[in-house]
Amino acid sequence: MRALVKSADRPGLDLTDIPGPVPGPNDVVIDVRVTSICGTDLHIFDWDAWARRTVPIGIAVGHEFAGVVSAIGDEVTGLTVGDRVSAEGHITCGHCRNCRAGKRHYCRNASGIGVHRAGAFADQVLVPAGNVFPLPDDVSDEIGSILDPLGNATHTALAFDLVGEDVLITGAGPIGLMATAIARHIGARYIVVTDINDYRLALADRLGADRAVHVGETPLETIEAELGMVEGFDVGLEMSGAPAALADMLRTINHGAHIALLGIPSGPFEIDWNQVIFKGLTLKGIYGRRMFETWYKMTSMLHSGLDISAVITHRFPAEEYEAAFAAVREGRTGKVILDWGRASPGLGVASQLQAEAEHSRMRG
Ligand SMILES: NC(=O)c1ccc[n+]([C@@H]2O[C@H](COP(=O)([O-])OP(=O)(O)OC[C@H]3O[C@@H](n4cnc5c(N)ncnc54)[C@H](O)[C@@H]3O)[C@@H](O)[C@H]2O)c1
Ligand SMILES: [Zn+2]
Ligand SMILES: [Zn+2]
Repeated sequence: MRALVKSADRPGLDLTDIPGPVPGPNDVVIDVRVTSICGTDLHIFDWDAWARRTVPIGIAVGHEFAGVVSAIGDEVTGLTVGDRVSAEGHITCGHCRNCRAGKRHYCRNASGIGVHRAGAFADQVLVPAGNVFPLPDDVSDEIGSILDPLGNATHTALAFDLVGEDVLITGAGPIGLMATAIARHIGARYIVVTDINDYRLALADRLGADRAVHVGETPLETIEAELGMVEGFDVGLEMSGAPAALADMLRTINHGAHIALLGIPSGPFEIDWNQVIFKGLTLKGIYGRRMFETWYKMTSMLHSGLDISAVITHRFPAEEYEAAFAAVREGRTGKVILDWGRASPGLGVASQLQAEAEHSRMRG
């Protein structure tokens, strides 16, 4: 099968042929239709220090995908060949205290699909059955392929109550953009999104921000004054990993406010602890998605009208992966899709099934 593999100890990836997976008793093999590129994949492509000490040479990369179950192990229950699915990319150990308590997102021994073990940028991916998430009919393959980062956005946005609150989202990357749409969907009052990238700020407008602010050009205090937000933001969602963004947030947030931190800084950095202490702030680190509460919440929100489709801005066939990664690196993108040639991109399931029917009729 085709797979996008880290085949040598150097930057880059190779699209090559490798043997397909064979399921163990509790595994599922999924025929991959659509995948999506994550910042993590770019780190692996570029082969930075983190990637070099984390990723084994020779594995397929990628963890954001949607596809169809094509084989199941003997012990698997509740899934059938032909099911349209995505999957949680964190494989948890099952025996640590948190796993046993049903808090799998706090597992201390988790390993990652496409990071520590064979990934989904391939014609097929093997996933333990317990990690598979069946896609509701109203979730298209493309949206199915971005449930992993939508899950990060959902986990962060639902960490604190946003209803009727003024929300600051720092970082209009794909996850900040999707968090903007969620905050709007669930009833925040003002949503202010910051970035230093005009292309992404324009997308933040489309996803429902009241103000999309270039922090190099306009101080947040000006925006707060314009909106009549006299006491400051009520909730902050940090989605950039930039130290300057957290400093902006600590400075402009109200006393007693809540901050959820998703963005991953490149290393340790200083913050003004006086802001945290004298304002009585609550800071919460967010990692991954709650298994599987986040998955149910996000698919329910999609069902009730959450529209994140504008976050997908670019689509490439898998063969053009180098151009796709270049686009992600350049940053004038939302989410970038890599298509493995089995789905009709951008179509909902109904029209997709129609296209498939069309296709098989044409084949006779
Ligand atoms: N905790 C987790 O489980 C988890 C999972 C996925 C991603 N992440 C992290 O979450 C963050 C968001 O992910 P993404 O895929 O959207 O990333 P991204 O890198 O595409 O987006 C980050 C955005 O922040 C912007 N930015 C840079 N400096 C800024 C500043 N001073 N103020 C405001 N914005 C600034 C960048 O221009 C960029 O658009 C990243 O840091 C990523 O590493 C964390
Ligand atoms: Zn991801
Ligand atoms: Zn565990």
